Amino acid sequence: MIQIYRVCKTYQGDICALTNINLHIQRGGFIFLTGPSGAGKTTLLKLLLCAERPTSGHIIIDGRNIDRIKPWQIPLLRRRIGVVFQDFKLLYNRTVFENVAFALEVIGASREEIRKRVLYTLKMVRLQQKAGVMPHRLSGGEQQRVAIARSIVHEPIILLADEPTGNLDPDLTLEIIADFETINARGTTIIVATHDYTLVNRFRRRVVELRGGHIVSDVPAPEEKQFEAPLHGF
Ligand SMILES: Nc1ncnc2c1ncn2[C@@H]1O[C@H](COP(=O)(O)OP(=O)(O)OP(=O)(O)O)[C@@H](O)[C@H]1O
Ligand SMILES: [Mg+2]
Repeated sequence: MIQIYRVCKTYQGDICALTNINLHIQRGGFIFLTGPSGAGKTTLLKLLLCAERPTSGHIIIDGRNIDRIKPWQIPLLRRRIGVVFQDFKLLYNRTVFENVAFALEVIGASREEIRKRVLYTLKMVRLQQKAGVMPHRLSGGEQQRVAIARSIVHEPIILLADEPTGNLDPDLTLEIIADFETINARGTTIIVATHDYTLVNRFRRRVVELRGGHIVSDVPAPEEKQFEAPLHGF
């Protein structure tokens, strides 16, 4: 689903944010991208969104090389990717329903289609009762779930989350990651960038660790426990 080959990213002023990144993520994969502040996590997510361009190397998303993507093609790529940020980025003068519907309005979905899909998605994140509410009346965890609903309502193939639980307490954090697991179980490939190692240790998923712009470790999810075949004759 995502293939990154020898990618380097140098910002203006010779700041080398990523060096020789090689990373392959399968369709339906779920990875934690971890590492201390300044490691390059956000930069890597930005490259996948074409919000920044690599200085060298190649990135292939769903079989398409995005190195030389034309500016007019970027919105088409972004329709296939959902994004969740630490600070929710909700529209506070619009209801929960309208916040989620917005992602479908911009792609020209019909009114009926929008209604059906928004309500379905709000149900997935357990917010169907809050459709008419303004976001400032919601808790932090609920606001983040609105942001998640908005990021998946157009059924992206990839979901990128940048410190999605950075503003939440530990219980809400677990809820949010559980929501990501539900979304992942439906086939969406998910990358969660976080410097929260307790979170990473709690969920048994593939963990890619960046430090100073290098991948320093890539630990696959522990194998599902294998049941031993019954002994012959039992
Ligand atoms: N727009 C930019 N211009 C110049 N340097 C940048 C820019 N964005 C990031 N950097 C630098 O690139 C490096 C990687 O930053 P990045 O934001 O990707 O790290 P991060 O792992 O997401 O950190 P954090 O955990 O604090 O969010 C840092 O040294 C940062 O200062
Ligand atoms: Mg960051």
